[in-house]
Amino acid sequence: MCGIVAYAGPRDAVPIMLEGLARLEYRGYDSAGIAVVGRSGDLRVRKVKGRVARLADDLPARFKGSPAIGHTRWATHGEPSDANAHPHVSGSVAVVHNGIIENADELRAKLAGDGVEFASATDTEVLAHLIARAADDAGDLEGAVRRALTSLVGTYGIAVIDARRPERIVVARNGSPVVLGIGEREMFVASDLSALVRYTRQVVHLDDGELATVEAGGFRTSTLDARATAKSPSVIDWEPGQYDTGSYDHFLQKEIHEQPSAVRRALSGRLDTRFHTAHLGGLELDARQAREFRRVKIIGCGSAYYAGLMGAQLIEELARVPAGAEPASEFRYRNPVVEHDTLYIAVSQSGETYDTLAAVQELRRKGGRVLGVVNAVGSAIARECDGGVYLHAGPEISVASTKAFTSTAVVLALIALHLGRIHDLSPADGRRIADGLRALPEQIEEILAHEDHIAALARDLVRHPGMFFIGRVRGYPVAREGAQKLKEISYLHAEAYQASELKHGPLALVGPELPTVAVVPDDELFDKNVSTLGQVRARHGRVLAVAHRAGAVAENADDVIVVPKNQPELDPILLTIPLQILAYHAAVELGHDVDKPRNLAKSVTVE
Ligand code: F6R
Repeated sequence: MCGIVAYAGPRDAVPIMLEGLARLEYRGYDSAGIAVVGRSGDLRVRKVKGRVARLADDLPARFKGSPAIGHTRWATHGEPSDANAHPHVSGSVAVVHNGIIENADELRAKLAGDGVEFASATDTEVLAHLIARAADDAGDLEGAVRRALTSLVGTYGIAVIDARRPERIVVARNGSPVVLGIGEREMFVASDLSALVRYTRQVVHLDDGELATVEAGGFRTSTLDARATAKSPSVIDWEPGQYDTGSYDHFLQKEIHEQPSAVRRALSGRLDTRFHTAHLGGLELDARQAREFRRVKIIGCGSAYYAGLMGAQLIEELARVPAGAEPASEFRYRNPVVEHDTLYIAVSQSGETYDTLAAVQELRRKGGRVLGVVNAVGSAIARECDGGVYLHAGPEISVASTKAFTSTAVVLALIALHLGRIHDLSPADGRRIADGLRALPEQIEEILAHEDHIAALARDLVRHPGMFFIGRVRGYPVAREGAQKLKEISYLHAEAYQASELKHGPLALVGPELPTVAVVPDDELFDKNVSTLGQVRARHGRVLAVAHRAGAVAENADDVIVVPKNQPELDPILLTIPLQILAYHAAVELGHDVDKPRNLAKSVTVE
């Protein structure tokens, strides 16, 4: 979704803006723009509908200067167009904004009544006018931003420049990330670390309700009501090379192949060989506190929710504590009953997903204890939770989640092992699960070695208009995630069902036109799964089975992808990998923009 970059310092800011905006492209956007204070003190603005490359081509040679602000926009108020692209300008003030101003219509009517003319249909332009009107003759930009923000209802991450005060940028945050990057006598600002890693490793995350004035020589932070705050910089450990596709064709393919190393990092230092349990310092729960929870509820959105479904089953199986997962996007709207003896776990790769963040805030407001399972260090959700565990999966650039999904499932398995060993999981079973976790990276490598076989199956399957994905109990979250991956990048219709539900309705659709991808692990439900495949085949439905043994399903499947066997509780993690590869090659075969599927954004920071 929308992205912000800004720079104050001695260099020409424009190339830095273009580089930063290109780094933010992966988040999804429809237009881009830059405002810069020229060497002669004039405000210059260029913005276009379309790609950052188009913006770069559109810039005149004299478009230079510092400071500057840049933006990639994902339309919410007003269609994608040159006029609606950010920055928005009022007099000498230019603003870029992520988030949504909920009372924009009301403010717009008031400003229009005062004679203000609007150049766009956006909520952000309202803010530009409010700031320009609040600025006094002394050009106190910080005070003007502060005054303007008091009349705003909604979420924002903003960066503001005023050509009358060319040495500074004022930024503020409420529900949408803003990070400051500290350089040598220069300062950077971004909404996402990916735009900063080329320039600096020293960063400062603003908190909600915080504002900062940024100049080449440093920054000062304060609350919206002007109380100074103290911030200490943290160091980013992500490498610039992680933002390139390297030898792969797409980020998605690269990230699928990074899964063995991502899982190794998720496990690193967290398995205890003495007590056969997991050490997770960030949980901030001692054994006695952990035992007091009678239930576990996992919340997340999309693939994070499906990983949550996998994790809930693991927790229930290993710890024998009732556990379930629910989409965070629905959770807070049903006025959830928050129980003191339920442990809540919020799952998010980006740590920015607004629906998940809002659910966490609602839970904590009601006194619930929430742990975060998050990839982006220092992100809003990570900071909002009572404790948590980081994935350490490295940046995930492709919109479709793969390595973060797998790492989340692995971290939830570690939490399940930890809770299990506090409850009644025996040392022998603890060792069995820990050994199973250690075996995952090599087994994922084995699956990746069969990419060509899976790619050939994908090329064949895309001739059909859609697919069913089915799985029973442990296989069901695998089917959900498989269907999600396929639909979001190949745009083929894909629906997931519990295999047992097929005969209660969806079987009516089964026939030669609609193939079924079946998750058939070698577990206690194997025979039941095989009998469901028989029902599909009896209706001339084509079956692709993802199984542990080819021979056993061969009679009831047209094709089989064989996956190495781990422990039954952990098998779902491995069974998902071929479905990621299948979706990737289906999308490539159909010629889609694999890393940036239509209508989707990497971080969904709006409702
Ligand atoms: C699917 C996908 C989305 C995200 C969802 C939550 O491939 O990427 O469904 O999983 O938007 O995102 P995070 O994990 O950042 O909260």
